Amino acid sequence: MNSYYGELCTKLYETDKSIAAGKELEFYLSFVDRTNSDFRVLEPMCGNGRMLIPFMQNGVHIEGFDISEDMLQACREKARRLNLQPLIHHQTIEEFDSPRPYDLIMIPFGSFSLLPNELVDRSLVNMRAALKPDGKLLLTIILKRDHIDEMLEWTETARQDVNDECIVTYKKVHYDAEQSLLVTQLKYQLVREGNVEKTEIMDFPLRLYDLAEFESILKQNGFQHVQMHDVKDGYGEGTRFQVFECSITSR
Ligand SMILES: C[S@@+](CC[C@H](N)C(=O)[O-])C[C@H]1O[C@@H](n2cnc3c(N)ncnc32)[C@H](O)[C@@H]1O
Repeated sequence: MNSYYGELCTKLYETDKSIAAGKELEFYLSFVDRTNSDFRVLEPMCGNGRMLIPFMQNGVHIEGFDISEDMLQACREKARRLNLQPLIHHQTIEEFDSPRPYDLIMIPFGSFSLLPNELVDRSLVNMRAALKPDGKLLLTIILKRDHIDEMLEWTETARQDVNDECIVTYKKVHYDAEQSLLVTQLKYQLVREGNVEKTEIMDFPLRLYDLAEFESILKQNGFQHVQMHDVKDGYGEGTRFQVFECSITSR
């Protein structure tokens, strides 16, 4: 019953986060050197290929990995429908040992905040080791906010029809201010003709950061050159997100 980005979570992710587009995609693609035919990109935590697949469609050589087999499977199926063959595998970022260096590594959509404190330094060291000397890491985190609405009891938060099924989402949310951890528990129920056919429970802790705090973590882990980008309307009009552009050497 307990899972992490399991089958139901992945089905829901696919309903509204299937393919990256617009300003977000443009921003990440702008770091690809189109004049270099050997340019190699890596997307750790690539999930369902939301970003990886449009990169492939743009002719970029990209590889990815993820801890969730269900998300990787969704990526493979989506790619197959588009006649693409993604280079993706099952792997954790904290154990990643790169067989070859990359020009660009990107971790979009705040995924890095999924890592607990004890995996952060190891993961950043692995990313640094996987970069060419003049390579770049683009990385996003989830920022601390002024107010968090906690939900101490299971609360239904969404109901989504997927083909002839309905997936109902329940949440519990607690903020641990001392650890800056937004601890969410998610419960997904697959309902068919009024019967609950499957239940998945997922612990979803998110480490929230201040920008300055995270910049200093990057520097402590060998990324001496850090530049912050503010991407306006990145996830659609009226939204914005920040991306850290990190390199080992200055250019
Ligand atoms: C929010 S999804 C993002 C997927 C994709 N990058 C995107 O932009 O839509 C986060 C992904 O990180 C993966 N993940 C979480 N912890 C991981 C770890 N330690 N190593 C590798 N992947 C991990 C999850 O399985 C999930 O697919």
